[in-house]
Amino acid sequence: MTRRVIASAPGKVNLVLWSGRPDMRGYHPLYSIFETLHMRETVMITANTAAHSASPSACEVSIRTVVDVADAATNSRVAREINSLDPRRNLAWKAVDAVRKLVMEKGGYAPGAAIEIRKTIPVAGGMAGGSADAAAALIAANEFFQAQLDAETIHQLARSLGADVPTCVAGGLNIGFGYGDHITRLDTPATPTHHWVMVLAYEGLSTPAVFREFDRRGEGRSSLPQVITPLHSQIAMAPAETLADLLDNDLENISRAMRSDLEATFDAIKATDAVGAVLSGSGPTIAVLARDETHAHSLSQELEGEPSVAQTIVTSGPAEPARLEDR
Ligand code: C5P
Repeated sequence: MTRRVIASAPGKVNLVLWSGRPDMRGYHPLYSIFETLHMRETVMITANTAAHSASPSACEVSIRTVVDVADAATNSRVAREINSLDPRRNLAWKAVDAVRKLVMEKGGYAPGAAIEIRKTIPVAGGMAGGSADAAAALIAANEFFQAQLDAETIHQLARSLGADVPTCVAGGLNIGFGYGDHITRLDTPATPTHHWVMVLAYEGLSTPAVFREFDRRGEGRSSLPQVITPLHSQIAMAPAETLADLLDNDLENISRAMRSDLEATFDAIKATDAVGAVLSGSGPTIAVLARDETHAHSLSQELEGEPSVAQTIVTSGPAEPARLEDR
């Protein structure tokens, strides 16, 4: 049994996010094009020897999160908040537990596991940080428990954990149907790199709250494309200038109306020579598209001075899939 396994997975930005009206469960069908980003969450699993005894199953998998996103005080506050939650609500915990149960169902040996997450993706930022944790945890758990799960089983587990988890496992640039979880890879080796400045707000934004406001306003498309539209068919080949015209998020106006700081940040972005900008997921992070890496750094410097901007992160995409890291 391997005693220490490390895996990583990328976050994402939605280049396109179209939403239908809520279904019977209140969930919204989506048509979504995701680009994974070179901002990765890292998950380490070690043997949880202390929990080997006859402890309740929830304790057989322990979890601890370290945050490495902002200044030291903010990092430790956010880590404290996450670590005070019930571990069973953490997607990475659920991922490890799911793999462990599969191994035990097949009569295999699955020892207690200690999970440590190192977060570099802003929490509640609309960049799938929690889903990236789950994606990395799946890959790490598969190796740690020597589960030998095939790609299809990992994909199904990913879908069962959350709609963004499959794209964080797959990496690259994907189109998602259903709830965004039925994905098809769109990028090829010829796909250009896109350079982004992720502009962070001081406060997070709750996805359910944004969707509730979306419903209250009677928003939601009556039907969504079931195949990629002609407009988006070349999106994986689009240079920044072309991509800028395609960026489109149905939740953007809702989040902007809910938060005056986002309106101020969008105004500040408009005053720069950014190629384009879009709300990332349900926000509040705004993804600003640059011409190239140098341009991204100069936009980052310009936007860091804005009162409504907490922080900026220069990144690029599409990114590599979830993968094991060297120990
Ligand atoms: O996917 P995630 O767990 O972040 O979703 C959180 C909540 O956001 C859901 O419980 C639901 O209320 C809302 N949501 C939705 N439709 C989606 C995704 C999320 O209504 N497609």
